Amino acid sequence: MKIGVLLLAAGKGDRMGGDVPKQYLLVDGKPLLLLALESLAREPRFSVVQPVIADGDRRYAEAVGQAHFPFCLLPAVSGGRERADSMRNGLAALPADVEWVAVHDAARPIPSPALLARVLDMAVAHGAAVPGLAVHDTIKQVDDHGKVVCTLRRAVLRAVQTPQVARRAWLEQALASSVQGGVEWTDDASLLEAAGFPVYVSIGEENNRKITTPEDLAWLGRLMAGRV
Ligand code: CTP
Ligand code: MG
Repeated sequence: MKIGVLLLAAGKGDRMGGDVPKQYLLVDGKPLLLLALESLAREPRFSVVQPVIADGDRRYAEAVGQAHFPFCLLPAVSGGRERADSMRNGLAALPADVEWVAVHDAARPIPSPALLARVLDMAVAHGAAVPGLAVHDTIKQVDDHGKVVCTLRRAVLRAVQTPQVARRAWLEQALASSVQGGVEWTDDASLLEAAGFPVYVSIGEENNRKITTPEDLAWLGRLMAGRV
C-alpha cells in the first residue's frame, strides 16, 4: 500500500501580503515549506512526496536545498490557478503505483506525528479522511445582504485541516466529475463529497494551523521559540 503526499505550494499568499509567497517565509530560520517537509518525514508510511509549486517559482530549490528525507522527494511540478488545478497537476505526476494520496498545504508546517497517524488510519479504514476540530464560535449562514439565513448546530460542525487523505482512484474520479466553472474548492474533501464518496473526520490539532495572515506567522514564531 503505497501512500504519496501532494505538497501544495503553488499559491500566491494574497492574504499574507508582501513579496515572498508565505510558503517561503522563514520561521526559526527555516521556510514554512521545509518545516512542512520535516513534519511529514516523521510519518514512516509516506513513501513519496510530490511538491506542486507556481510556474516560474525560483525559491523552491533554495528552500529545500540539500536536505535529505526518508521519503522520495520528486521533482516539483507546476500548479494551477485554483487549488484543485494544483491538485490535479500533482496527482497526474505521482507514480502509477501510489494508491493513496495525502494532500497537504505547504502553509501548514507542523502537523504532529500523532495527527498524521490518526488521519492515515482513518482513511485506510474508510477510504477518505481529514483532520478536523470542533468549532468554538457559533456559525451562522447569511445571504448576500448579510441577513442570517440559519444558525448551524455547533456540536456537529468541524473545522477541517490537512493532510486530507483518500484513495487515489476516488480523488481522480472526483476531479473528473467536478464542475470546475464558478465553484472554488477550498478543500479536497468537498470534491470527494460532491462526487458521493464518504469522508471521515479524524482528530486535528490547534497547532496544525494554516499560516494565512501575519498574525498566524507571529503565532508560529512565538510557538517555535517556546513562548506560547
Ligand atoms: N495552493 C496551491 N495552488 C493554488 C492555490 C493554493 O497549491 N492555486 C496552496 C497554497 O500554496 C497553500 C495551500 O494551497 O499551501 C492552501 O491555500 P491558501 O492558504 O489559500 O494559500 P494561498 O492561496 O497562497 O493564500 P491566499 O488565499 O491568501 O492567496
Ligand atoms: Mg488561497
